[in-house]
Amino acid sequence: MKKRLKIAFQILAYSFRKAPFQTSILLITHVVLNFVPLAVAYAFKLLLNSYNTNLGNTQGFVILLTAYITLLGLQKFISIFRFIFSDSILRWKLQDATWYDFHQKLFNLDIGYFEDSDIVNAISKTRQHVVWRPVRLVIHLLNCVAFIVVAVFSAVIIFKYGSLIPLILVLSLLPKFLASLKYSEAQWSVLDSGSEPYKRLWYLAGLATDPESVKEIKIFGVSGELMKIISGIQKSFYDKNMHATIRYSLSNFVTICIQYGLTFFALTLYLFNKGQSPISVGELTFFLALIFAFSSNVNDTLDEAGFFMEETLYLEDFIKLLNLPPLIHSLQDPVIPNNQSGVPIIEFKNVSFKYKDSLPYVIKNVSLKIEHGENIALVGENGSGKSTLIKLLLRFYDVTEGEILVDGENIKNIKLDWWYSQVGALFQHFIRYNFTVKESIAFGDNNPDSQKLARAVELSGLTQLIENLPLKYDQHLGTQFYQGHDLSGGEWQKVALARAFYRMPKMLILDEPTSAIDANAEYEIFKNINNEYKDDKTLLIVSHRFSTVRMAERIIVLDKGAVEESGTHDQLLALKGLYAEMFLRQAEGYK
Ligand SMILES: Nc1ncnc2c1ncn2[C@@H]1O[C@H](COP(=O)(O)OP(=O)(O)OP(=O)(O)O)[C@@H](O)[C@H]1O
Ligand SMILES: [Mg+2]
Repeated sequence: MKKRLKIAFQILAYSFRKAPFQTSILLITHVVLNFVPLAVAYAFKLLLNSYNTNLGNTQGFVILLTAYITLLGLQKFISIFRFIFSDSILRWKLQDATWYDFHQKLFNLDIGYFEDSDIVNAISKTRQHVVWRPVRLVIHLLNCVAFIVVAVFSAVIIFKYGSLIPLILVLSLLPKFLASLKYSEAQWSVLDSGSEPYKRLWYLAGLATDPESVKEIKIFGVSGELMKIISGIQKSFYDKNMHATIRYSLSNFVTICIQYGLTFFALTLYLFNKGQSPISVGELTFFLALIFAFSSNVNDTLDEAGFFMEETLYLEDFIKLLNLPPLIHSLQDPVIPNNQSGVPIIEFKNVSFKYKDSLPYVIKNVSLKIEHGENIALVGENGSGKSTLIKLLLRFYDVTEGEILVDGENIKNIKLDWWYSQVGALFQHFIRYNFTVKESIAFGDNNPDSQKLARAVELSGLTQLIENLPLKYDQHLGTQFYQGHDLSGGEWQKVALARAFYRMPKMLILDEPTSAIDANAEYEIFKNINNEYKDDKTLLIVSHRFSTVRMAERIIVLDKGAVEESGTHDQLLALKGLYAEMFLRQAEGYK
């Protein structure tokens, strides 16, 4: 409960930060609008009393009547004002702010978080709710505040009519309060326990919208089975929600009976206390209006509290994501190493690494040096740690033991922006950006250099393909946008390669860059890369294809996270170790 309130007030504070004017207006108009019925009731009391005394024949009566009608009009006017200036504008502002902040946080989140299933789950849940839930929470919360203010005010006035009456009224609302708490918690627990099945439901639904998985599901003939799982999860949600709703409705029925019984008792008490002294019609009407205002405001407070508390359940992850601390800590004044040649020299010194404390080491005491301008291939069986070594070199994670030096400087002390401007990487799971050809290659460069573009295209063997596209460099790729042109798997990989070549970094890292590319094109691409990446640039390639690997100046063989062998192709063959075994097995297949 405390946690939920904390989240609610954090979102309210966020709303005040992002849209201070609209949030304040919303609060003020809520309070004022809730006071209007009381003011109307009071004016009505004066009006009735004045009419009773002199049958409406005085100037005072006319003034009161005018005030009464003005109040009614004012109520409408404030509602319209609130709707335009606060409800609508606040909604747009808050939607834009949460959408922007959420995505900005994601773009700046350390990569390690994306490999943590809890965080990935939180991201996918937040995506579904972040746009529209915060504004709902703020509206419910401010409503709640306004109801409390008016309820307390009414209670203070009622107190004048008899000190026991507010107490009885509070007692009358207590069962409803307890029932609301219980029902909300039941509702939350349905959602909470639904967290994993919910994730599974969304994941299964996502399979139906992904053309790749639809193909496989069709061929395997498993759509019926998947739909059975989906409807099973849906049914369990339905049953749980139904159960909670029936319990709530029953408890609501009982608590309302208690509430009205006790309110009737409070009224009788008031009339009994008055004894024989006469009560004016105006006074009685006002008293009834006060009791009604108090009860309905407390009732509404409880309902609104239930609503905003429920919203916090969906926004807990949003707050958690916004407050995630960095995994990678940088120095206040990070260093830019001074290197005469301009091409970085890399050294791994006794590096060991595990993804989490609870997991085993996946890199074990690795020591290796990459001189500037070297052309290196990293090989090893699946899971031997090749991609992990690259992630460490790009400082997606910090090493568990040992150190990585760039130009003699510990990578932890180096300015990361500078490091990323020196190094380029193409990852194993490359991205198929549904942008134009130009945008996909000159990624992030708003004014692409046509010469650099042509060079990257040539190096990756895309010249002919682009020539054949109707809109050439302005052709949209992929199927997401109007008249987009889809590519084959290998063509997509060539576009990804061109993206890496466009930047022509001092050090290029390619993790399985040609896994989908045909043998001829691969040969051409590597001939081009090797020409381009000579002495003045460093190349690090991870590959399972020995036709590519053997071209490297030096080959490093990883086995279960440790460096097993290192040398040229001929040296390693002569060694007759792991490399020779892997190479000969692959070569065997081509005989
Ligand atoms: N995010 C992660 N969390 C925990 N373990 C991981 C994570 N990523 C990889 N691993 C584990 O680390 C080990 C090394 O994985 P890595 O991806 O570096 O292998 P690899 O040599 O690149 O394999 P492949 O040739 O299949 O690409 C594997 O056992 C893998 O299961
Ligand atoms: Mg890998």
